[in-house]
Amino acid sequence: MKFFIDTANLDQIKEAMDLGILDGVTTNPSLMAKEGIVGVDNVMNHYTAICELVDGDVSAEVIATDFEGMIKEGEMLADLHPNIVVKIPMTIPGIKAISYLTQQDIKTNCTLVFSSGQAILAAKAGATYVSPFIGRIDDIGWDGMELINEIAEIYAMQDFDTEILAASIRNPKHIIDAALSGADVVTCPLDAILGLAKHPLTDIGLEKFLADHKKANQGH
Ligand code: E4P
Repeated sequence: MKFFIDTANLDQIKEAMDLGILDGVTTNPSLMAKEGIVGVDNVMNHYTAICELVDGDVSAEVIATDFEGMIKEGEMLADLHPNIVVKIPMTIPGIKAISYLTQQDIKTNCTLVFSSGQAILAAKAGATYVSPFIGRIDDIGWDGMELINEIAEIYAMQDFDTEILAASIRNPKHIIDAALSGADVVTCPLDAILGLAKHPLTDIGLEKFLADHKKANQGH
């Protein structure tokens, strides 16, 4: 399973890169706005900066909602760097844009996916990735992980090539459950990735090893 970081923050991307476990980055318009990246030139420069930091796919989302606008923006984003994946919302013009960009050999990530029907359409259009939003489904009292399971079953049964990118991950448990459910990729906030390493017995065990070592080595 691939690990992507879900942020536009360069420091956090670098911190995750330094762990040696990062395979890519996803961003969205909200995450770009959170970093104060505004204006077309700044946005384009920021995507380039992310691509120069990370050796892996970097999802950059279109703002246009019409077919022509999405493909124009998608082609512009794809021209920035070979690692750019054009992120397109799950809408009817979005499906058309994914089909078109796929034919141009441009990688796509179909975002804002909340049902298996939407995931089937994304795969049929040739999306490189499909992004079901686990956390937002959980937020409304449904079960986000059930959706990952169902999509994984359908894609395996139908031999679809589209990779399942579990998005809207909120915590380490989401990452473990996504792995168990057959996600190909998880995109997570840095905290959720770091949280995987934490266990109280690890801390207690390390403390004891170091104390025993110190005691045994006194006077040596
Ligand atoms: C990434 O591709 C998605 O845009 C992101 O994971 C959404 O996460 P959120 O639901 O926490 O905003």
